[in-house]
Amino acid sequence: MTLNLEPDQPVKHQRRKRYSGTHPRRFEEKYKEHNPNRYADTVAKVLDSGKTPAGTHRPIMVAEILDVLAPKPGDVVADCTLGFGGHARALLEKIIPGGRLIGLDADPIELPKTEQRLRELGYDSNCVTVHRSNFAGLPKILAANQLSGVDIILADLGVSSMQLDNPSRGFSTKGDGPLDMRMNPQRGQTASDLLKKIEAAELETILTDNADEPNARTLAIVLAGKTFETTKQLANAIRETFPEPRRRSDDADLTIRRAFQALRIAVNDEFSALDTFLRNVRYCLNPSGRIAVLTFHSGEDRRVKKSFEAGLSEGFYSAIAHEVIRPSPEERRANPRSSPAKLRWAKAK
Ligand SMILES: C[S@@+](CC[C@H](N)C(=O)[O-])C[C@H]1O[C@@H](n2cnc3c(N)ncnc32)[C@H](O)[C@@H]1O
Repeated sequence: MTLNLEPDQPVKHQRRKRYSGTHPRRFEEKYKEHNPNRYADTVAKVLDSGKTPAGTHRPIMVAEILDVLAPKPGDVVADCTLGFGGHARALLEKIIPGGRLIGLDADPIELPKTEQRLRELGYDSNCVTVHRSNFAGLPKILAANQLSGVDIILADLGVSSMQLDNPSRGFSTKGDGPLDMRMNPQRGQTASDLLKKIEAAELETILTDNADEPNARTLAIVLAGKTFETTKQLANAIRETFPEPRRRSDDADLTIRRAFQALRIAVNDEFSALDTFLRNVRYCLNPSGRIAVLTFHSGEDRRVKKSFEAGLSEGFYSAIAHEVIRPSPEERRANPRSSPAKLRWAKAK
């Protein structure tokens, strides 16, 4: 292959696209936040204001998770929701030397970036391996790594801020983008496809079961079988189910958030993945191994609680959390996205 390098031709300088107003508003315009090494001051200001810099994710309840998982040098960890790698980094700092982390995530877009960040921090393939996999497949991933069990399992459920804040992923209730919502955009149907095909009765069940939506019936009748190409179109249609004086109310915003959550859970089949994972994990822990799960709504927490209680009474676990652990008021203030988090843990016999 011949490379057509023309050294005499000056490289054309590409100007950054201008944004209107004094501050960038759109995800892709936040060029300083996307370059944290170059613009550390801007990133620090964003963090101080209680926001998450674009393209990043702040790990939640790190101290509490380290406390219940008690990682030590030599431990083998399965981080089943690698995300940005924040919890993974905190765990790696405790298990090296001698330890090893197996990272799983369903997202093929963010996973390579996270792997690269971990490699740049000096974690080579002897101490970190990453796998694009649903965590329902944890036993297979462990087998592929010649592991019969691990000392620590962590699952931090839901979506990352990178997924949530990037309008092109279609999770966002704020910006506009294609109505997608797939954690793995290479597989399955989008939220737009789901709404196009679904009957009202089935959508009502999704809205009730996945988000305890009180207006499930009205919403289902309005939305089922309709075509919504973008997140804004769907959000506006939900808003319009409210009478005019309440269209901009907190109630309307909350209903939009709940409907998006319910659809996301359905699109990604999140509950059946979680049920399979919870059934499997008891067989994936070494003796005295520890598992922690961070949940973000009642549908998830109910499942984790029931599974840990069953594991305790069936003799798989020697101890479990009887009460959920919640983020401190300081963490909730500093990172409002942590507010709904609930942490539960279990310890294998
Ligand atoms: C809240 S984020 C995790 C953030 C991570 N703990 C950190 O510190 O950066 C959740 C991640 O789990 C992934 N995820 C959600 N459900 C999954 C599943 N069933 N299997 C694998 N990954 C999943 C999402 O793609 C997302 O990256």
